[in-house]
Amino acid sequence: LVVPVVLAGGQGTRLWPMSRSARPKQFLPLTGTTSLFQKTLQRVGDATRYTAPIVITNSDYRFIVAEQAAEIDLPLACIMLEPVARNTAVAIAAAATQAQSLFGPDAVLHVLPSDHDVDTSSGYWAAVDQAAEAALSGQLVTFGIQPTLPETGFGYIKSDARIGEGARPVERFVEKPNIERAAGMLAEGGYFWNSGMFMLGASTFLTECEALSPDTWRAAHNAVLNSRVDLDFVRLDETAFATAPNISVDYAIFEKTAKAAVVAVDFAWSDLGSWDAVWKSADHDISGNVARGPVTLGNISNSLVISDHAHVAVDGVDDLAIIATNDAVYVGKLSAAQKVGDMVKRLRADP
Ligand code: GDD
Ligand code: MG
Repeated sequence: LVVPVVLAGGQGTRLWPMSRSARPKQFLPLTGTTSLFQKTLQRVGDATRYTAPIVITNSDYRFIVAEQAAEIDLPLACIMLEPVARNTAVAIAAAATQAQSLFGPDAVLHVLPSDHDVDTSSGYWAAVDQAAEAALSGQLVTFGIQPTLPETGFGYIKSDARIGEGARPVERFVEKPNIERAAGMLAEGGYFWNSGMFMLGASTFLTECEALSPDTWRAAHNAVLNSRVDLDFVRLDETAFATAPNISVDYAIFEKTAKAAVVAVDFAWSDLGSWDAVWKSADHDISGNVARGPVTLGNISNSLVISDHAHVAVDGVDDLAIIATNDAVYVGKLSAAQKVGDMVKRLRADP
């Protein structure tokens, strides 16, 4: 059986102000009545394939996680709590360490972001099986999506992998290139987007982590060793965890390892990571607008207008994201939606 590891500690800053640090996007019902986190748990709910999942999240989200899992009746192996946010490299390393003690040293982990919209109806399970097989043979497996735009919010994977043909070696992994480099890779061809899901043998991953990012490995190892278990919660040791570098697994491991492989996939996938992704995934009116809530549109095109509460009227603009919540409003170019995260950093520095 494969051990699901659900990453649920991100702050979703690029969906500010809907996604707030107290209730980030993975816990919001962005695409229906259940949250993206709950949909992720449901995707790994098949007991013939998977053990109960390990969820790893920030300590601040422990009650939302426990509540949302209970709401859909999904038992968890444990909820690992990070005392401070240090990004995904150490989160995955800590979960891998914990998985070894719960499920044995050779456990295979299916690492899943908790904020994606994935269609499992065609091709998904075949890809998962191919990835699990490659992980068993010592590869660190990514899932490659056919790119359509020079998107700068993703990792890019160069490989000769083909859909349906199983895992192939990764020639190059480039995390979040600038727009020129992304456009260059699209023009060159032979690149995939990294979906953000991984299939990893726990021991292979931890050995690579120890070699390529020893500070991450040590922090994870000691934080698990000195963790305190309290009901379903595994509280990672703060002193050890806080020493971890703040780095994602993509930069810390996947850009550097020689063991990376990719399974090319063609199932429908969306990282609802930014306002332009939300705009793209929704139905547009004839002028290319998406509107939700009490909104009146005048002469406006290619825009996303969402309001929770206040009536919003917009006229004479193009390419805008306008997001109004009870206590905050964001207005910015939809085509520069990746910049919302920088804006939120400034807001935090200067509230
Ligand atoms: N536990 C935990 N702790 N989870 C975290 C943390 C953390 O500190 N930071 C982020 N996460 C979770 C997020 O909630 C999300 O589910 C997942 O880890 C990925 O983090 P993101 O911050 O959303 O990463 P990204 O979208 O910028 O980039 C990743 O995903 C892209 C595809 O969506 C990379 O893997 C890219 O290469 C990839 O293309
Ligand atoms: Mg993301």
